[in-house]
Amino acid sequence: MADNRSATLRFDNKEIELPIYSPTAGPDVIDIRKLYGQGGVFTYDPGFTSTASCDSTITFIDGDKGELLHRGYPIDQLAEKSHYLEVCYLLLYGELPTGKQLEDFESLVTNHTMLHDQMSYFFRGFRRDAHPMAILVGVVGAMSAFYHDSTDISDPQQREVASIRLIAKMPTIAAWAYKFSIGQPFIYPRNDLDYASNFLRMCFAVPAQDYEVNPILSRAMDRIFTLHADHEQNASTSTVRLASSSGANPFACIAAGIACLWGPAHGGANQACLEMLKEIGTPDRIPEFIARAKDKDDNYRLMGFGHRVYKNHDPRATVLKQSADEVLNLLGVEDNPLLQVAKELEKQALEDPYFSEKKLFPNVDFYSGIILEAMGFPTSMFTPIFALSRTVGWISQWKEQLDDPQLKIGRPRQLYQGAAMRDYVDVEKR
Ligand code: CMC
Repeated sequence: MADNRSATLRFDNKEIELPIYSPTAGPDVIDIRKLYGQGGVFTYDPGFTSTASCDSTITFIDGDKGELLHRGYPIDQLAEKSHYLEVCYLLLYGELPTGKQLEDFESLVTNHTMLHDQMSYFFRGFRRDAHPMAILVGVVGAMSAFYHDSTDISDPQQREVASIRLIAKMPTIAAWAYKFSIGQPFIYPRNDLDYASNFLRMCFAVPAQDYEVNPILSRAMDRIFTLHADHEQNASTSTVRLASSSGANPFACIAAGIACLWGPAHGGANQACLEMLKEIGTPDRIPEFIARAKDKDDNYRLMGFGHRVYKNHDPRATVLKQSADEVLNLLGVEDNPLLQVAKELEKQALEDPYFSEKKLFPNVDFYSGIILEAMGFPTSMFTPIFALSRTVGWISQWKEQLDDPQLKIGRPRQLYQGAAMRDYVDVEKR
């Protein structure tokens, strides 16, 4: 990584040489680690717009070209030719599996899908109207209380077991969060079904009537999982890494990632986007909403538009737009009004200079909600589905960080703007 180049920083009669590193892809990186020691200053970068927080070999995004690579493989190829569990293997272990490795991995995950039975009581402690993300944060955090044999992060075998458990059990947890919210009995996983079909069945079957999984819907579900599997150092992944840097157990770290994902600027955008499309309702109201999004005095934003890194197009959105057409055709609802509003909104926004000048394009959340709603999911389940898909990304990044010999607890500094030291004033004198 290191080459012989360096950057020179001059200020206050000081001159500091800072090494420059060249990555496999992406911009060069200036190593500022000795800046405070030698110069007594910090850098200032709220929102990490110019800061690389770690080394990584997992995922790369070229925001200008609209490219997303997992271990070097483009996401559109993986979405078309691979499937979620194979992508999980790739993210976790770095290479595509052989046929035997894939078979063993699938069997391992399938055999860990059941939850400790006592966990069902944990679900029952929530209010029925709890948001499924609230249940996910709680239940995944609570896994540390149920799986003591996989919380010792210094033991590689325990790390491995925790990884498989999380990937295997997330669909069960998300499906049970949904079942609990609608007052239906929990449906147990079935080992003869693939990962996506199992999830659909656990959500939509009832003891009185099984759910026939349509292979086209299961493929679309699997594709949504694949497209959300990892995304470099985004807010929730960075949260997982920061939580893990203190040595916290894997279930606590992933629960922290889920909590961060919930926000509407991140994973919560898929729910917010569908709610926005419903609020717009008909294509004739689109100009009114675009005008609001452009108004400097209104903090309204078009949900499912814009991205910190993608400045050309989001390759995941391209795949999902096509998938939305396929799913709605299959279900015979190709004239779905939400899809019509979404397509017209995309068209009008892309023709508007405000959006093109700011490089705002539809992101992954713009079309995923339409597919999920057509499958029968309520909006409150959209972000839990994102969370279950992203679990493998969080775990891969967590494992990579623990293997990094440079691992230090994350501890950002600050530009303090508060009061200087002052003496306490007794209450009667204030
Ligand atoms: N609608 C209208 N204007 C927008 C939007 C939007 N969706 N997104 C950004 N802008 C404007 C923003 O007002 C700002 O304008 P100005 O320069 O005049 O102040 C400019 O574009 C840059 O915005 P920013 O907030 O500085 O950009 P950011 O990189 O910090 O934010 C973002 C990225 C995704 C948080 C933001 O685009 C946004 O809030 N989008 C809507 C929420 C959304 O769809 N989030 C899902 C992201 S993809 C899934 C995931 O990875 O979680």
